[in-house]
Amino acid sequence: MTQPIRPRRSALYMPGSNARALEKARTLDVDCLLLDLEDAVAPDAKDMARSQVADAVTAGGYGKREVVIRINGMDTPWADDDLKAAVQCGPDAILVPKVNGPEDLQKVAHLLSIHGGDQTPHLWAMMETPQAMLNAAAIGACGRDSRVRLTCFVMGTNDLAKETRARLTPGRAAMMPWLMTCVAAARAGGIDILDGVYNAFQDEEGFAAECAQGAEMGMDGKTLIHPKQIAPCHAAFSPSEEEVAWARKINDLFDLPENASKGAIQVDGKMVERLHAEMGKRVIAIADSIAART
Ligand code: COA
Ligand code: MG
Repeated sequence: MTQPIRPRRSALYMPGSNARALEKARTLDVDCLLLDLEDAVAPDAKDMARSQVADAVTAGGYGKREVVIRINGMDTPWADDDLKAAVQCGPDAILVPKVNGPEDLQKVAHLLSIHGGDQTPHLWAMMETPQAMLNAAAIGACGRDSRVRLTCFVMGTNDLAKETRARLTPGRAAMMPWLMTCVAAARAGGIDILDGVYNAFQDEEGFAAECAQGAEMGMDGKTLIHPKQIAPCHAAFSPSEEEVAWARKINDLFDLPENASKGAIQVDGKMVERLHAEMGKRVIAIADSIAART
């Protein structure tokens, strides 16, 4: 299953119990919305949050923003009601927390097909347990299983720190092997991957550094907790004008008849291969898609 190229630079979490946030989300310049029924909602607010999120998604008005509902874990008493509500209001995707292995996603996909018939939402998977780190390749492979319809990984770095006792420090040295393993697993499965949240939302410098690090690692975007994180996040994850110009230039050069049979050419003193032109096509598609949404 190849999914269409779309920008997922930013994905803003909001508690499903927060009506003001659900309303404000309709006006924010953000690529994805993560309407949370899980960790951000207290147990006694679960039912209220579920019906409020269902009403908001049914009412719509979210434009081009990708609308994703994070349900409660499948071993909780709320999961089944969450799934039924999600199928009825029809978000773009359902984010499954605490995924340990492919069977967790297969189970959700099976329940969705029972509740929802043919037009079920895509699945996104939280990668946040030690088991998920060890099973990352098998979970990512669900991206190629048309019954599961997995399209994105979301790194849950706070839960991962809790479960593994690894520390979340500036530079994230302890997390790096898991983060990069998940990048590889996502690409092997043909899906996108979003980096974890940065809790200190008032720390602009630290946040910008972590966005830059995520972009360098190949993350498609970052999960966010506060609207003020959106603009700096987009600055880090949008292709720059220079990158887009370079991508267009090398694609134009490979399209010239004199280069038709060449695998590598010299451009501005650099060796450029057809694989760079392929990478450039993705940059151009993302840039065009960003331009089209504004
Ligand atoms: N989504 C949408 N709007 C949000 C928002 C969010 N995540 N966080 C804050 N806002 C809005 C507020 O409603 C407020 O809007 P208004 O001034 O127009 O009424 C504005 O942004 C400024 O908010 P601020 O006062 O700075 O923050 P706060 O104290 O109200 O909230 C948090 C701080 C951390 C509680 C809040 O940002 C939050 O709940 N974040 C998401 C937490 C979450 O979902 N975690 C689960 C996954 S890690
Ligand atoms: Mg979590």
